[in-house]
Amino acid sequence: MISDHYPPTVLDVPLVEHGYILGIETSCDETAAAVLSRDGVLVSNLVATQYEVHQRFGGVVPELASRKHTEQIEETVQEAMRCAGIQFPDIKGVAVTQGPGLAGALLVGVSFAKALAYAQGIPCIAVNHLEGHLASAWLSQPDLTPPCVILVVSGGHTHLYFVPKFREYHLIGHTLDDAAGEAFDKGAKMLGLGYPGGPAIDHLARSGNSGRVRFPRPYLNRGGLNFSFSGLKTSLLYYLRDLKKAGEKCVVADVAAGYQESIVEVLVEKTFRACRLYNVKTVAVVGGVSANSRLRSLLRERSTEIGVQIIVPALEFCTDNAAMIATAGLWAYEREEFASWDLDVKANLLHGTSYAKENPLVALAK
Ligand code: KG4
Ligand code: ZN
Repeated sequence: MISDHYPPTVLDVPLVEHGYILGIETSCDETAAAVLSRDGVLVSNLVATQYEVHQRFGGVVPELASRKHTEQIEETVQEAMRCAGIQFPDIKGVAVTQGPGLAGALLVGVSFAKALAYAQGIPCIAVNHLEGHLASAWLSQPDLTPPCVILVVSGGHTHLYFVPKFREYHLIGHTLDDAAGEAFDKGAKMLGLGYPGGPAIDHLARSGNSGRVRFPRPYLNRGGLNFSFSGLKTSLLYYLRDLKKAGEKCVVADVAAGYQESIVEVLVEKTFRACRLYNVKTVAVVGGVSANSRLRSLLRERSTEIGVQIIVPALEFCTDNAAMIATAGLWAYEREEFASWDLDVKANLLHGTSYAKENPLVALAK
């Protein structure tokens, strides 16, 4: 085991000096690096995608993702440093995604971050990917003040949080099966739209009529603040099967629009229901699916109607990026929450205190 003492005693970490936090993200299929100044100004934000590697397989192949991260990480970090116009001695801490995510992919980022931090004699900070997504709300709206409700909708998670104060996250709802992003990806595959599915459905749905094919609104009036999307995927499967049997033509744009509408409506309705229950006037929606144009427009529409402030990050901060990891990393850095040298990845890292079971407000939502 490597020394547990962090930072090493031989090296004096100049905590009071101003400088930068380097963020590194490699939890899935994006190799990302960003530089954030210690006063919270984002100075560079780089993402190297891997679409061309996974596209022909119709989804992310974990082994190939790890290998691509290994190839891309050094160059991505160097480029982020170059864009920021800084040198390694200007970096005061390296923040990296510890989990949740693909174990092999996470290992590349964590190993790189530890090696760099060790070589520079600075702390390494382990960031939960979900706190990273939550932090993207503050990247877009630095003066966001809790209490608020935040929905994280990504390829792996659909987590609804009540945030009573800064960095306190109560999980009040989550998906019981597939995540919203997964529903987009699997639906797109069935419709022959390929990978990544979310952007493909989003794009095609713009030319479709969402009223022509109506899919069920899963769990809209049950399950409290929880979600479920696996049944919706089955509805699409049956719809396409029946259409084929009847020899009818599939208008893919209309089906994509109808399918998208179902996911979006449930997400928006339950999010605003949480606002009412917790009596909050501010809500943020973050994560890859928050890039969806229909979700963004419906959120804005409903928020105006009910007088709630809505925060949705700029598109570059919705999907996986290192700016959000650097932001959450900075919060931890300022509180000296440093990782030890034997920091390991946690593919199934959990996040948020479970609040739902014992909370009578959640029971009311049923
Ligand atoms: O946050 P993210 O980049 O990675 C995870 O943490 O999972 O989210 C990726 C997910 C994918 O499922 C992708 O299809 C979805 O976000 N996504 C979208 C859009 N852009 C990305 N879903 C719907 N509409 C989009 N425009
Ligand atoms: Zn993510």
